[in-house]
Amino acid sequence: MAVDLRTRLGDTELPNPVLTASGCAGSGRELAQFLDVSRIGAVVTKSVQLVPRAGRPTPRMAETASGMLNSIGLQGPGIDAFLQRDLPWLLSRGARAVVSIAGSTVGEYAELATRLSAAAGVTAVEVNISCPNVAERGQVFACDPSAAAAVIDAVRARTRYDVPVFAKLSPDVTDIVTVARSCVAAGADGLSMINTLLGMAIDPVTMRPVLAGQTGGLSGPAIRPVAVRCIWQVRAALPDVPIIGMGGIRTGQDALELILAGAWMVAVGTTIFHDPSACVRILRELDDELAQRGIERLADVVGLAHEPQAMAGRRPARNTR
Ligand code: DHB
Repeated sequence: MAVDLRTRLGDTELPNPVLTASGCAGSGRELAQFLDVSRIGAVVTKSVQLVPRAGRPTPRMAETASGMLNSIGLQGPGIDAFLQRDLPWLLSRGARAVVSIAGSTVGEYAELATRLSAAAGVTAVEVNISCPNVAERGQVFACDPSAAAAVIDAVRARTRYDVPVFAKLSPDVTDIVTVARSCVAAGADGLSMINTLLGMAIDPVTMRPVLAGQTGGLSGPAIRPVAVRCIWQVRAALPDVPIIGMGGIRTGQDALELILAGAWMVAVGTTIFHDPSACVRILRELDDELAQRGIERLADVVGLAHEPQAMAGRRPARNTR
């Protein structure tokens, strides 16, 4: 039995719901050595900024017991090079491109949205308002509902009407639902969650912070339960708002967990660093997980964990975790 994995991202139909997570696959070029970028749902780019940036000093990555800390500092080529080189490359390969943007002021986000609107072929814009590696915590727009809304309002107003705008939320808040509501009220068509959690590691030998930037974003399996909880809470409060779920997905079963919590699509991040073709494997595993349970359509399981009798009358699958 073939499972219908199709999903929609605004006006664009995606063949399946497995995306790359922003920051973990550049603009897709390196990934193309390992997989056909047109086969996955979409490539979500590393956050693009107005000007090129070298990022923070090294070391800027550190392994943790069940994940990774990074403090890259939004390294990237800037919007001009992205539009001239990276976006055309993605489109030439038949990939669907979700462009992540990041700025330090509302005006920078607005300018990025204006520049992207002039380009054809953008499937969606993901607004990174939750990068943990900014100079001051006050710059993490997603930690404040009205600051988050100001960015989303500016981006939505300047983005082509047929291109959906997703707000990428931070789990490092007291109440993620308040921020989610604020972004949706400001015009977000969907929500991406979660970004990394702010973390830190200290080397007991040098007795100094491991990362040059001292603090960094924690990702990987350690954060999956946090992602599940955030998606669950937002789905319960805003059941009609599309969610791209990310946070520690390593297997098809992990992807299914986020989907059951309420994600319409999932993005695969940290695991790509040691398994560059992970998106294709996870897609195959997700397909198997659904088929084993006798589920015909992905859409039938989105948010299903919220239903009291979720598995009534269905074939239970063996829990292989
Ligand atoms: C960076 C940005 C992020 O959104 C994140 O979660 C981690 C790191 C960065 O470029 O520093």
